[in-house]
Amino acid sequence: MRAAHRAAVAAFAAVGVAAAVAAGSAAQRRGPLECKVTIVGGGIGGAYTAWRLAVDARVVRPADICLFEASTRFGGRIFTVQDVPGYPGFATDIGAYRFHRTEHPLIRSLVEDRLKMETACYTDPTAALPMNVAECPEDNKIWATTRTKSFVGNLETLGGWKLPAWTPAVPFQFTDAEKWGTTAARTERRTLPSVFAGPNSMLPELSTRWAALTDANTTYEKAMAVADEALAALAVGKYKGVPYAEVSVIQMARDAGMSAEELAMEVGTSFGGPQMFNMNVLGLTTELVRSLATHHMALPARGPAKAMAVPVAGVGAARKRSGMASIVTRMLKEADTAGVRIYTGHRAISVRRVGECDGYGADEAVPGKPLAVEFANGAKVITRRLFLNVGKTDLLALGSASEPIKSASADVRRRVEGQQVIGGSKMYCYWPKAWWLTDLGFSRGSGHGEQPAVHDTCYHDGPVQCTDPKNFTTCKGGLLVSYEFGDPTGVASGLYAANHADAPYTPLSATSAKTVMVKASLSPRHSLAWKAIVDGIRASHSGLYGRKNATGPIPEPDVCVGGSWYDVSMHWPRPVPRLSATLSTRLFSKPVPDLNIHLVNEAWGETVGWAEGSLLMAERALGVHMRVAPPKWLDALFYKAVITNFNAGKAAPAPVARI
Ligand SMILES: Cc1cc2nc3c(=O)[nH]c(=O)nc-3n(C[C@H](O)[C@H](O)[C@H](O)COP(=O)(O)OP(=O)(O)OC[C@H]3O[C@@H](n4cnc5c(N)ncnc54)[C@H](O)[C@@H]3O)c2cc1C
Ligand SMILES: *[C@@H]1O[C@H](CO)[C@@H](O)[C@H](O)[C@H]1NC(C)=O
Ligand SMILES: *[C@@H]1O[C@H](CO)[C@@H](O)[C@H](O)[C@H]1NC(C)=O
Ligand SMILES: *[C@@H]1O[C@H](CO)[C@@H](O)[C@H](O)[C@H]1NC(C)=O
Repeated sequence: MRAAHRAAVAAFAAVGVAAAVAAGSAAQRRGPLECKVTIVGGGIGGAYTAWRLAVDARVVRPADICLFEASTRFGGRIFTVQDVPGYPGFATDIGAYRFHRTEHPLIRSLVEDRLKMETACYTDPTAALPMNVAECPEDNKIWATTRTKSFVGNLETLGGWKLPAWTPAVPFQFTDAEKWGTTAARTERRTLPSVFAGPNSMLPELSTRWAALTDANTTYEKAMAVADEALAALAVGKYKGVPYAEVSVIQMARDAGMSAEELAMEVGTSFGGPQMFNMNVLGLTTELVRSLATHHMALPARGPAKAMAVPVAGVGAARKRSGMASIVTRMLKEADTAGVRIYTGHRAISVRRVGECDGYGADEAVPGKPLAVEFANGAKVITRRLFLNVGKTDLLALGSASEPIKSASADVRRRVEGQQVIGGSKMYCYWPKAWWLTDLGFSRGSGHGEQPAVHDTCYHDGPVQCTDPKNFTTCKGGLLVSYEFGDPTGVASGLYAANHADAPYTPLSATSAKTVMVKASLSPRHSLAWKAIVDGIRASHSGLYGRKNATGPIPEPDVCVGGSWYDVSMHWPRPVPRLSATLSTRLFSKPVPDLNIHLVNEAWGETVGWAEGSLLMAERALGVHMRVAPPKWLDALFYKAVITNFNAGKAAPAPVARI
């Protein structure tokens, strides 16, 4: 871990960050630094803010911008491991790993149109597909094991499993009404999404507009207008007199007639279920409605389909995934070259107002009350505008005596508390022979195991390199063996993250989210994890062997690399009784009216769990509160609806005061 940190610093020494760290210690000796714009956090939201101000829009002198990162690595929850022992250059994303080309227009335009980075279909394990494909390979759940029973799809076509006919093998106890619902045609099992989405949505605001939003022949402009209408209606919509923002998904699902057993099946066969049950209905639907509309957006001719994409580089057999961190690195390099002052090893520990008695009076040139940010290493900065690129855990670690919590209204405070922090973990293992490709023919799709100690094995996810991409016997590399969000059973999920990670990843300790386990040198703690992984991967695949030519046992891997994001993985909004009807994104964008503090993180946006959410919050702070012109490379209609209007729809509340 330490070595990797040194490697990260070394990589950034090339862009001047090492020099900046030295400047930081100099600052401690000479008194506070002065930065007109201060960014705390070097995740994608912080990097984007610095890059937009200094490089893209060029509205602030680069030397007036300071970015402080607590750790020695940039990227936060975007963490591309490049130095897996024995597999150098096999870029492995142990945090975020992909974006959607129409559901995430801001990051797509940034990466493809502005930064001109190449992307490929996420569902292609070898990144060998041509760039212009009508479809990316389908990402089906090809098997699921729950309550000791396996559901298996078509293993030859890698088609997903369906339940058109119920068999006694299904280990859930359902009445007929529970199997198909009471109103829908008896062809589809009732699911949590079917309660909220689709023409039979329980929400009239959606059911009445579903056809218009999903009409294959509609235009992007029309669909966006319908989405605006739907979002305005949802924002004031109520369920039995209670605003949607204050009602949980599970409350409405149970009222829709879903039984505990049906909900258990959702948990047993899908991803992230139980935590989603505790989202509020407005939070669940806002993201959905807008993404239905942006699906109709025209994309550049070059590039993969309207699907999940990953950054790639190289041509022919050398073409490979470059990792999500390549996006962050690129922006930080450009910001650094322009002259932005970038510091690592600076963890902010307090933010407070400073005034006349501290010697900082009003500054005509830079409106806004001055703020002092103090760091754990003793450094201090005086600033007039502060972007906090931190999630809930790190915001709370600043303490209630620190801004913005200190001066925030009760309404803001309860919205902050209302964000639930979801745990998450990933485990990648590496083999000299990609057995899932050769022995099972699984080049895509995933398997969902509840009982074995591996949770969501994903066959197209992992850095695979092939001498001949058409001949899988020439492939070696990594497989996403286990992927987990939330804690559905308390058995599978907790295993790798909480129990086997080298250290907790918390604001209180300088630790990494990465754990590396090498077969040849396993510590006792790693041996526990190793056995669980090997047993789990074998057990979860044993039922597939009779159906495929492979006989097993699956060989042990050489090395496994895990990402443990236990208390910081992503944030979903819970239903809390609000003290005003203002959208949470508006409050978070400027939580204290007289302070130029902006929350810029996935934690505070409506696109929960995606980097897009962090970028949207950054762009709102820039565009709405600093009046930075919209990015020239971003669709204007999208900008107006989602940035200027905060995705509130046509009946957007009064504009935010501009300070
Ligand atoms: C396992 C996993 C998979 C995911 N998959 C995807 C995906 O495929 N696609 C996608 O778009 N999103 C995905 N996400 C979500 C995505 O990672 C986040 O939305 C995004 O990276 C958040 O970026 P951010 O800049 O808002 O915050 P962060 O990445 O959390 O960055 C915050 C930064 O601030 C620093 N910091 C914190 N406190 C302080 C302090 N006091 N002082 C100084 N610095 C501080 C941190 O060290 C960190 O670098 C995934 C997340 C996880 C955990
Ligand atoms: C879209 O338009 C085409 C051609 O006019 C028509 O054949 C098709 O049925 C339409 N599809 C829908 C969903 O309306
Ligand atoms: C695939 O690669 C293997 C190993 O290099 C080789 O033995 C085999 O002949 C190749 N098969 C084809 C069809 O090219
Ligand atoms: C599996 O075995 C059958 C029968 O031996 C054979 O016909 C088929 O080609 C094999 N399939 C693969 C993918 O090797």
